Parts: sequence; C-alpha cells; structure tokens
Amino acid sequence: NNPLRVAIAGLGTVGAGVIRVIQENGGLIAARAGRPVEIVAISARSRGRDRGVDISAYDWEDDPVALARRDDVDLVIEVIGGEDGPAKATALTALGSGKHVVTANKAMMARHGQMLAEKAEAAGAALRFEAAVAGGIPIVKALTEGLAGNRIRRVMGVMNGTCNYILTQMEATGASYETVLAEAQRLGYAEADPSFDVGGIDAAQKLALLVSIAFGTRVDFDAVAIEGIERVSLADIEQAADMGYRIKLLGVAQANADGLEARMQPCLVPAHSPIGQLEGVTNLVLVEGDFVGQIVCQGPGAGAGATASAIVGDVIDVARGLVMPAFGQPAGALAAANRTAEGLP
Ligand code: HSE
Repeated sequence: NNPLRVAIAGLGTVGAGVIRVIQENGGLIAARAGRPVEIVAISARSRGRDRGVDISAYDWEDDPVALARRDDVDLVIEVIGGEDGPAKATALTALGSGKHVVTANKAMMARHGQMLAEKAEAAGAALRFEAAVAGGIPIVKALTEGLAGNRIRRVMGVMNGTCNYILTQMEATGASYETVLAEAQRLGYAEADPSFDVGGIDAAQKLALLVSIAFGTRVDFDAVAIEGIERVSLADIEQAADMGYRIKLLGVAQANADGLEARMQPCLVPAHSPIGQLEGVTNLVLVEGDFVGQIVCQGPGAGAGATASAIVGDVIDVARGLVMPAFGQPAGALAAANRTAEGLP
C-alpha cells in the first residue's frame, strides 16, 4: 500500500513527540491505518538542537512554507504555534496545494479555523485539530463521530492544565500564585507567554472550537466571555475549601432559551464532584447530548506525549481516507448559519 508521506513543521517538544510516536509505534500505526505513515521532511528554526530523537533520515527545510510546497508530501503536521505568521502561512500553502493539514494550534484555529476549513473543503483536503483541544483527550472525535447523532445541550469543563495545576498546588502547598506559576513554567506545560494560560485565553480558544463543533456555529473566539485566574488569591482558595468547594477555571457553553452562551471563568465547584477532584495538568470535558445524556472525558491536557498522541490519531484517520469536514459539518454550512455564541436561533 502507498505510504502516507508526512512533513512536520516545528520541532519543539510536540514535534519531537510526534517523531517519537511514529518511530516507536510505526508497525501498529501502519496496521491500523492500512498503510505505512512515513515522515519525509521536517522544518524548524534550529537544525542542530538536540531533541532527543534521531532526525537524520528526514529531509530538512529551513522554511516551513517550502516544506508545505513539496510535491513528495501528502500531509503537513503544523506544530509551529502562533495565531498568524509562519504557522498560518504553512497551513494555507499546504491546503492551497491540496495537502492535508493536522495541527495542534488552537490560537490559529480559534481565529482562522473557519477560513482554513473552507480552504480545506475547496481543496478536498482534510484539516484536523484534535490536539488543539484538551491535549490527549479525543473530544473532537467524540463530538464529530461518536456523539454525532445527538443534539448537544451543553459542553463544559477544565481546559487549561496550567491553571488547574496552579489552583490545585496553591491549595495543597499554600504557596503563592507567583511561586506556583513559575513552577508550572519550569515543568513546560505553560504557554510561551503564560498570560495566555492564566488569563483564560488558551482555554477560551479551546472552548470556541468546541462550541463550533457542538452547536454548529461559525468559529468565533470573540463571542466567548473570558475571565482568568490572575485575581484568585490563596485566601479565596482557602475560603472556598472551608465551605467544601474548589475554585476551577471552568468553561461552559450551553444552549438556553435566549440563545447560546459561552464563558470561561473561575467557578466554585463542589470539592467532591469529578471536576472538583481534578488534580494537576489534567483536563476534563463534560458533554450533554439529548440522547446519550452526560459523558465525561478526562486526561492529560498538555505535554509532548499526550499532544503527539492526538496528532498521530488524526494522521491515522487521514491515512485511512477520512477526509471529513474539520468541524463535523461543512464550513460553508457553518458560515451560512451565521450563528455565533451570542445568538443561536
Ligand atoms: N498551556 C496549555 C495548558 C497547553 O496548560 O493546558 C495545552 O494547550
């Protein structure tokens, strides 16, 4: 069988993680995909850096856009990051030449997902972003595939591992916000600019994508009301604990009589509930559908292994020939519906 020829743009911890998964699990990936998945070429800012993986067998490109143009590539994995810049140029170039794109880039998808999905559909290419939402948890697949027969009533959960780590560590150790944030940065879970984590932006980007998938609205990051955890003090956390609650940065999107609301904000959650008990960099997403009832998915929301796991799952789907709409329904239909999180008819 023809191999699926893959290029990787960006070799940070996630890019290196993808290489490791494909190198170590190549046999089972080929068996499950029905064809081998082969890395052909890679691109990153610095060639010489030790990433703990052997990259000597792959062609090197300095420019990710040149990588996306190569004729010997079927699918580009974009793990550069950033809303615009080289990430968006790489994705657009790949889709423009009919190549599939798998991305972990929630910032790019939350801003440009609608446009990119339209480009992908026009090109007959796949655009997949499981890794952009809740790291290793296959929540995009759950919504677009397993739960596709349901009308979704509500999506809620904890979608930023760094904030969950900060809040649980502050309570457990009595350490200050600043001390624990510095620790989260050292562990490598925080965004390059950690204000994206603590300001609720990163989590809101993920919620904006889930809203679009779950409710069939066009992707609209600006329609999510956002409040971060910067102003949550140790005293707030201790007071909440005294009353039997925990403070969590909680995203909630639900259809009400007046429309659809989507919020990301610190909330009091009963300490013994599944969300209240969530520790560390874990994420949890709860979905309520009209026929399934409630389901809960929980798992690592950040880190090289978890994110690479989601990316490779998407690559395998494409290798199997699954070129379905990025949001589970045609982007044209989402655009025509012209609904945002502020006004679901
Ligand atoms: N900084 C993010 C988090 C990484 O802490 O959840 C995954 O988006």
